Amino acid sequence: MHIRVLGSAAGGGFPQWNCNCRNCDGVRKGTIRARPRTQSSIAVSADGSDWTLFNASPDLLTQFRAFPHLQPARAVRDTAVRAIVLIDAQIDHTAGLLMLREGERLAVYCTERVREDLTRGNPLFSILDHFCGVDWHPIAPDPGITFSVAGAQALSFTAVPLKSKPPPYSAHRNEPRAGDNIGVRIVDGRSRRVLFYAPGLGEIEPHLRPFLAEADCLMLDGTFWTDDELIRLGVSNKSARDMGHLPQSGPGGMLEALKPLRARKILIHINNTNPILDEDGPERTALDAAAVEVAYDGMEVEL
Ligand code: MLT
Ligand code: MN
Ligand code: ZN
Repeated sequence: MHIRVLGSAAGGGFPQWNCNCRNCDGVRKGTIRARPRTQSSIAVSADGSDWTLFNASPDLLTQFRAFPHLQPARAVRDTAVRAIVLIDAQIDHTAGLLMLREGERLAVYCTERVREDLTRGNPLFSILDHFCGVDWHPIAPDPGITFSVAGAQALSFTAVPLKSKPPPYSAHRNEPRAGDNIGVRIVDGRSRRVLFYAPGLGEIEPHLRPFLAEADCLMLDGTFWTDDELIRLGVSNKSARDMGHLPQSGPGGMLEALKPLRARKILIHINNTNPILDEDGPERTALDAAAVEVAYDGMEVEL
């Protein structure tokens, strides 16, 4: 299985246009060692020819240009992207669908909850109906069900419901329901190697543990280092957990949860305020010691 990190940042990207936090200001001025990052998406393929996108970032066109495998140039109009799987209905994971409007009908796999938010609160699917159109393939947020996408059947997927948050424009923002957010288990049918991808994850619930334990590679929510990261900066009154993201540090945090697991561990969907973006910071040293990696744009993982 080939995995390409198209975008490794959370909503806003890094640096974020209006932000002068230590990281954003530092990366702009070159006063810290850190890499700019685009918003959250990965591409996965069994054969290197047919690719499935996980999420469609607002930065998708830049990401495609940086990864020529997505344009095999077999015809005047062409793409190697067979389908797009959406793990939630957030802007950083879906706005890029608009950038694909010149193409054929889009094969989009997502839950009923996500389809609902992308038809009502943020009517992206309805807008796209005036262009290429969307073929919606429902995903059941059920750990017992496996699905695959047409044209790329060598990989199979399982959607695991996660406790996180639907977007602010969801009718259910404050009453999250199963299917608002999923993690996806991705299995290569030939090699049997397993990736578990969950860029938005608020809590490690018991049903999730076997999925984390069996995976060969984990790409998990790297949004915030501390629960009060945005509050302390004075830019929000919301904690990481309020936003549906499990912070990395502290008791009950992501690092503690990752410790006993055998997989290759990669944090992804990193917010621009997160001190792990500073490659020379003590938080990065702590990650190194725990053998936890930080995803970057263009990172490739072979499983
Ligand atoms: C989130 O996952 O909480 C988002 O990155 C927020 C956003 O896209 O604005
Ligand atoms: Mn996000
Ligand atoms: Zn910032």
